[in-house]
Amino acid sequence: MAENGLQSQLRGFGVDVGGSGIKGALVDLNTGQLIGERIRIATPQPATPDAVADVVAEITHRFGWEGPVGVTLPSVIQQQTAQTAANIDKSWIGTDVKDLFTRHLPGQAVTVINDADAAGIAELYYGAAKGAQGLVVLLTFGTGIGSAVLYNGILVPNTEFGHFELGDVDSEVHASAAVREREDLTWPEWTARVNDMICGMEKFFWPDLIIAGGGISRKHAKWMPNLDIRTPIVPAALRNHAGIVGAAYAAANGICP
Ligand code: BGC
Repeated sequence: MAENGLQSQLRGFGVDVGGSGIKGALVDLNTGQLIGERIRIATPQPATPDAVADVVAEITHRFGWEGPVGVTLPSVIQQQTAQTAANIDKSWIGTDVKDLFTRHLPGQAVTVINDADAAGIAELYYGAAKGAQGLVVLLTFGTGIGSAVLYNGILVPNTEFGHFELGDVDSEVHASAAVREREDLTWPEWTARVNDMICGMEKFFWPDLIIAGGGISRKHAKWMPNLDIRTPIVPAALRNHAGIVGAAYAAANGICP
């Protein structure tokens, strides 16, 4: 029994809400590994708060999970209110996300966190930022560009480096992974755009380390060595599970921006 009790304390549950899929899994909080398979359900369209929260509740119920739930969103989350909605339905802006998810998952503690911040937490405790001192910036390249800033092991939440402007467009419009596919850019063409973005950031930020995450980090050999930037850069360790893992960690440890 004691062993079972201990085991359940070390488990967490995270759900990562993305533009095309909502993914949830049990997480071993000792190792940062998923326990068993994750479940993915296509993001409802339109991805309104109630429609998304329904899917989050369905995934949670499918696992029979009754403990704390961590949920990521591609939005600034301030005091559990969504403040932005760059790549998700605009009706999220101003939504009290704690209230929303508590209505859909009554009796369960729900913690909502920005998706890149969740990935930053996952890298901090289980991945490429573990033990790193100084200023670490995680950039996630996907539909948009997310960012997480860690300083000596502490998350500075809600940075939005994907929205600083390069010329007259947001840097995520210039250099996200989705843009590479949409515009059919070659690796050198896309790498040059990422280079522009990071050099832009380096003008006013002096990180000790940059971690590149998102699906594209798997293909790091194709682009990362060709960057001409000041800061050392490494690929993320957790790849596309980072959001789930970081959300589960945040929920279990009361990290609640
Ligand atoms: C959003 C961020 C999010 C990132 C990655 C951006 O468009 O503004 O909050 O972290 O996309 O999903």
